Parts: sequence; C-alpha cells; structure tokens
Amino acid sequence: MDFDANDLVDPVRYATNGRPYSLWARMRRETPVARCEPDGYAPFWAITRHADIVSISREPERFSNASGITLLRRDEPDFQRGVRAIVNMDPPDHGPYRAVGHRWFIPRNVRSLEDTVRSLVRELLDGIAARGATKIDFVHELATALPLRMICGLLGLPAADEPFALRIANEAFGSDDPEMKRAEGGREALVVEIFGYFMRVLADRRSAPREDLLTLIATAEVNGKPIPDLEALSYAAVILGAGIDTTRSALGSGIVALLEHEEQLERLRKDPSLIPTAVEEILRWTVPANQMLRTATCATEVRGVPIAKGDTLALFYPSANRDEDVFDAPDAFRIDRKPNQHLTFGIGEHFCLGAGLARMEIRVLLEELLPRLRHIAPAGAARRIQTNFIVGYKEVPLEIELAPQGR
Ligand code: HEM
Repeated sequence: MDFDANDLVDPVRYATNGRPYSLWARMRRETPVARCEPDGYAPFWAITRHADIVSISREPERFSNASGITLLRRDEPDFQRGVRAIVNMDPPDHGPYRAVGHRWFIPRNVRSLEDTVRSLVRELLDGIAARGATKIDFVHELATALPLRMICGLLGLPAADEPFALRIANEAFGSDDPEMKRAEGGREALVVEIFGYFMRVLADRRSAPREDLLTLIATAEVNGKPIPDLEALSYAAVILGAGIDTTRSALGSGIVALLEHEEQLERLRKDPSLIPTAVEEILRWTVPANQMLRTATCATEVRGVPIAKGDTLALFYPSANRDEDVFDAPDAFRIDRKPNQHLTFGIGEHFCLGAGLARMEIRVLLEELLPRLRHIAPAGAARRIQTNFIVGYKEVPLEIELAPQGR
C-alpha cells in the first residue's frame, strides 16, 4: 500500500490537519503492520489494529519498554537513556516498582480524593460564574488548572511550585511546538532540571516524612532494599509528567467533541445518568497519548510479518479506538456507547496507573459543569498543540455563562 509515513508523525501536520484517521482506516484494512521510514525519525513498524496492540502490550518479554516509549528524531539525543521510570522498565523489575505507587492509585484512595477534586472544580467554576456572561480559554482555566493542582497536591508540592510544574510539563510534551518548547538545552537539560528539583524534595521527605506520594517514593523499599536515587527521581518525574498533560488534553479535546456534537451534549445535559458512559466515549474519542513504542527483544512476527530483533513498533491507540472489528460505527461519537473497549490508557503490563484518577477528574468536571451551564459556545478557533505525542489543544476559546453554585 502506498502512503506517506510523514502523515503518521509530522507534528506540523497534526497541528494543522488533526489526526490521520482516514490513513489509519486504510492501513487497518490493507497493511496493519506497516514499515515506516518518515523523514527525520528512526524507522518503525506502525501497528494499527486493536487486536494487535492488545497482544503486543500483553507480551512485555517479547516487546520491551526498556529501550524507550517515545518516537525519537534522528538528530535528537535519546534523553530516555538516563531515566529509569516504571514505564521504561520490563519484568521482572517493573512489577515491584509499579507496586510502590500502585496502592496510592487504588479505587479506595481515588474515591477519597473525589471530594478534593469536587471542591477544586466548584472553586474554579464559581470564579467563572462570578464573571457573568464571559469568555474563557477552557484549556487554561479548567483543563490545565484541575490536573495541575491535583497532581501537585498528590505529590505534596506547595502551591508556589505549581507554575514550575506546569512549565516542566509544557516543555516535556510541547518540545515540537515553537510556543511551548524549552528555550535552551532541549530535553536533556529538562531532565537535569527536573531531577535537580526532585533531588532536593526527595531528600526533604527522607528527613521529614509527610503524608504524600513523594514521601512514599522517597522512603520505598524495593525487593527489600531502599529505592535507588535514579529510580526514585524517575518515578516522581513520570507522575508529574504523565498526570498533567494527558488529563488536560482529555478535558480540552472532550469539550471540543461535545460542542461539535451538540445533540450529544444536549442529551447529556438532560440525562446526567449518561455521564459514566460519556466519560469513556470522551476517552475513546480524544486519546491523549497518540502512541507508545515497543522494541522487539528477539526475531519474531506480528500478523505473519517478520520483525527483526531490535526493531521498533509504534502502537497507534487512536487507530485501535476506531477499529471496525471492535466498535460499531467507530466514527460516531456516542455518549451512551457500551461496551467501550478503548485503549486510551494502554493495556497489559503498563496499563495506566492514573486511569482511575483521570476518569474521576473528567466525571466530576462534567457532573459539576453541566447543571450550571446557561450558555456555552465556541468563541473562535481552538488551537492544537504541535506534537505527535500527547495530542490535544493548547487553547479552546469559549463563550460561557454559568449559574451560581447550587442553582
Ligand atoms: C486521560 C489521562 C491519561 C492518559 C490518556 C494516560 C495514558 C497512559 C498510557 C497510554 C499509558 C501506557 C504506557 C505504555 O503502555 O507504554 C500510561 C501509563 C502510565 N500512566 Fe497514564 N494516562 C493518563 C493519566 C495519568 C495520570 C493522571 C497519572 C498519574 C497521576 C498517570 C500515570 C501513569 C503512569 C505512572 C504510567 C506507567 C505505568 C507503568 O509503566 O506500569 N497517567 N498512561
């Protein structure tokens, strides 16, 4: 099949045209395991079918995370080599390290955070309501503010450090966007800055433990020994990085999807019992993480296509989420879709640790926002981030009017 592999990865094309859904549909039909050699990137196999992404993700011994999970430009040093986060580990290391943070994200703990999320959302909405009919940038005022405060709160970072955390998250995931990328030193310098910051914070938690996730990480024991510095720093960095941009993107792209499907928004406003299925459909539709990579640990095959040891595979989650073998009318946005086996949080060994928290943040925002909406409409074009990784909007201008709380 003839296609332009640049359409799969070029950040400028993502920003200008959105995602290559029609190309993915053709690839799923004609070449579901496709060799790609786009300009400026290391070659990879594009995996576009749901079933293949599921089986590859469930075989970490054959398809490893340890050689990196993000697409790399040929001219860029591999910043992932200096990092030992759980998302870059394979079994047998991965399980014991994942267990350190896991208990913080279990459903009971997530439920206990729900009141905090709700009062945060109310506070943000009250501020907007007080302005009467007004214009907002949804990304800035709600979609960023909520996960930023939640993640900083969870880690135990002071409010004064939130601007730092936001800059770090923007620079980490906006490195292809001229408006967001780091001014100097690229991603390697960014890792040095993040590690320098967490080095101080983790040392503080070791000498003065508190009730926060950073204390848990700083004082963790893995396989009966204190967690090494590199692994602790990487853990803290990945939670900060993974928790903000992804959720921001789900919320920002989620409101755009609802506004583009007005009849679905109206239905949801009339029937809030649909919020749980709407959350899943927003996740299927918005797919913040565009792809994660795997590296073959041995000569193998996928769907009969030979894969050499050391080859890279890119798992394109948005393509899986529109796979006609799994979803009825996959290109329709339906807030009552059930079942909804989307792969937005990945699957298998590295299934997203923060999935429960992200789901709860989206649900609570909808539960609080929808009943207060007097008016909502786009107030200009939404602007996409120039990136092929955590895909979403950097600005969603809206006209909005909210009822005061309790009405
Ligand atoms: C809508 C929001 C989110 C999306 C779309 C998302 C997506 C993903 C995906 C696709 C993976 C799998 C990576 C792989 O297989 O290589 C993952 C892993 C991970 N996510 Fe999320 N994530 C979200 C929110 C969060 C939040 C809120 C947190 C933390 C507070 C978080 C922490 C993590 C961590 C630590 C991993 C690595 C797990 C492991 O390697 O075992 N994520 N996420």
